[in-house]
Amino acid sequence: MILITGATGNIGGEVVRQLAATGERVRAMARDPFRADVPDGAEVVRADFDDVSSLEHAVAGARAVFLATAPGPAVPRHDAALLAAARAAGVAKVVKLSAIGTTVAGEPDGPDGNGPVKVGTWHRPGEEAIRASGAAWTVLRPSEYASNTLRWAQAIRAGTPVPNMTGSGAQGVVDPRDVAAVAAAVLTSPAWDGRVLTLTGPEALSVPDEARLLSRALGRPVETTDVPLDVARRQMLDSGLDPAFVQVTIDGRAFIAAGRNATVTDHVERVLGRPPRTFATWATDHLKAFIA
Ligand SMILES: NC(=O)c1ccc[n+]([C@@H]2O[C@H](COP(=O)([O-])OP(=O)(O)OC[C@H]3O[C@@H](n4cnc5c(N)ncnc54)[C@H](OP(=O)(O)O)[C@@H]3O)[C@@H](O)[C@H]2O)c1
Repeated sequence: MILITGATGNIGGEVVRQLAATGERVRAMARDPFRADVPDGAEVVRADFDDVSSLEHAVAGARAVFLATAPGPAVPRHDAALLAAARAAGVAKVVKLSAIGTTVAGEPDGPDGNGPVKVGTWHRPGEEAIRASGAAWTVLRPSEYASNTLRWAQAIRAGTPVPNMTGSGAQGVVDPRDVAAVAAAVLTSPAWDGRVLTLTGPEALSVPDEARLLSRALGRPVETTDVPLDVARRQMLDSGLDPAFVQVTIDGRAFIAAGRNATVTDHVERVLGRPPRTFATWATDHLKAFIA
């Protein structure tokens, strides 16, 4: 049985659906089981990363775990709690959903070599812990999710410009369905044990590129408006977001704007044996969200 954490989320939910469709035994972990929309045959377990005894219950009998946490400063604590429970239960394999830009000691541009912009700091402790866990492991470092553009849906429906915090900085925007497909593949095969996979789409796209592709799919203009990072920081703080969350978010946007995240890899294709989906395909498949 494979335990999927973050099962009410974007990636975890899709991993549950894809694994269940291939007949794997899956257990979806959720804080509120009623919010977990799982297919027939999948189990649901109520558990919280902040409740150790619930994690012990969730991992019991699992041979593998997909570790997906909500973005934020709690990631290291949540990773550590799940890994401790998995280790105690003798789970054989853990696949961690990390993020592009994360580095660990010994990698080029690792923690010691990082410049003034720090990215990936939420995931580094968990990436280090997984290597020391004694279990087989794979780390997935996806690039920007195509689905992040759903945050623009309201503006696009209203015909107003979408915010651009990253100028012409491009990223290897990846379809969440491909991230989940890679997760499902590596959870069920030893071929990628001990590997770090950087998951991108087939091309590097800036925010204006994504707006252009959405515009083409919708058949009407989608404009962007530049939002300087100091303005974005103030807006996020004023809306009550945790300052630590805001700092990492702004650092990440600065990293992208400087052109430092324009990475495209062939890792999705190497695992799945087919090219990653394009952003245009994602947009066509999610058009309804942008139509009033
Ligand atoms: N967005 C991007 O472009 C991007 C790119 C690369 C990497 N990432 C990484 O991907 C991860 C986010 O993936 P996602 O988009 O699939 O996440 P998501 O949709 O935000 O879902 C987060 C999941 O975590 C669960 N969760 C939150 N707090 C919990 C707790 N205390 N105990 C148990 N479960 C808890 C949520 O459950 P509830 O329903 O109970 O809240 C939800 O299922 C982050 O680690 C992020 O750093 C994101």
